[in-house]
Amino acid sequence: MIDALYRFLAKLGFSDPLHAPIVHIPIGLVIGALVFFVVALIFKRKQLILTARHASILGLVFAFPSILFGVLDWIHFYHAKMIPAIQIKIALAAILLVLLSLGIFLGGKAKIHNAVMVAIYSLSFVAVVALGYFGATLVYGGFSQTSSKVSSSSASAPAGYAQGQALFAANCQACHQGGGNSNVASLPVKGSKRLASLETFDRFLRAPAMPDGKGGDMPAYGTDALSAAQVKDLYAFASADFK
Ligand code: HEC
Repeated sequence: MIDALYRFLAKLGFSDPLHAPIVHIPIGLVIGALVFFVVALIFKRKQLILTARHASILGLVFAFPSILFGVLDWIHFYHAKMIPAIQIKIALAAILLVLLSLGIFLGGKAKIHNAVMVAIYSLSFVAVVALGYFGATLVYGGFSQTSSKVSSSSASAPAGYAQGQALFAANCQACHQGGGNSNVASLPVKGSKRLASLETFDRFLRAPAMPDGKGGDMPAYGTDALSAAQVKDLYAFASADFK
C-alpha cells in the first residue's frame, strides 16, 4: 500500500522523501511562536502574545502530518529498521508534542507567568532544532565525512556516480554512514568483498547475508525497490568511494 503510494509519486516525477517538504511548516511555526512571544515582551506588544499562541497551535496541528509522513518514509526508505537516529527522533517528537500541548494549555490561563511561557517556547525551539539535526544526519549523514574521491561534477566521475550517491543517501546511509556499518561494525561497506564486481554487489543486495551465508539484519532489495540500472549507479558510487 505504502510502496504503491511512493510508486505513484515517482511516476509523477517525485521520488524524494515526503517528510522533508512538510516538516518545515511546524518548524517555522515553533520558531515563530518563540520570536513573537519574545518581541511581545520586549516591545510590550500584548497582542503578539496571542499571535505566538496561534503560531504554536498551528505548529501542533502540522506536527501530525509531519510525523505521519516521517513514519511512511521510515517504512519505505529504511524498511522500518529501528536505528539510533530514528529512536532519538521518536523521543524528541514526543517531547515536542508534550511541550506544544503544555504551552497551549498554560497559555490559555490568565495568570501564567511570562517566564514559564518563554521557557516552554524556548524548549520547543530546541526540540525542533535537534529534530532537524538528526533528520539531516539520517539523510546526509556521512557525506561531510566521506572525502568523495570523485566529485560528481568532475569529468572523471564514472557514469551514474551522482545518481548512485543520491540512491545511497536515500537507501543505505542510515546504516552505512560514511561507508561504515552501524549495526555490525565489523562489516562496513568500505573495503567489502561484496564490491568486487557489479554482479557480486547485485547478488548481495538482492539477498544480503553474513559472510558465513546466514541471514543477517540487512534488508533485501528486490528489483521493485532497486532496479538493475539503479544498482549499477549505486555500484558506480560505492566502488569509487568505498572500494
Ligand atoms: C537497516 C540497515 C541497513 C540498510 C538500510 C542497508 N544495510 Fe548494508 N548491511 C547492514 C548489515 C546489518 C550488514 C551486515 C550483513 C547482514 O546483516 O546482512 C550489511 C552489510 C553490507 C555490505 C557488506 C559487508 C560485507 O562485507 O559483508 C554491503 C556492501 C552493504 N551492506 C551495502 C549496502 C547498500 C548498498 C545498501 C543500500 C542499498 C545497504 N547496505 C543498506 C545493514 C543495512
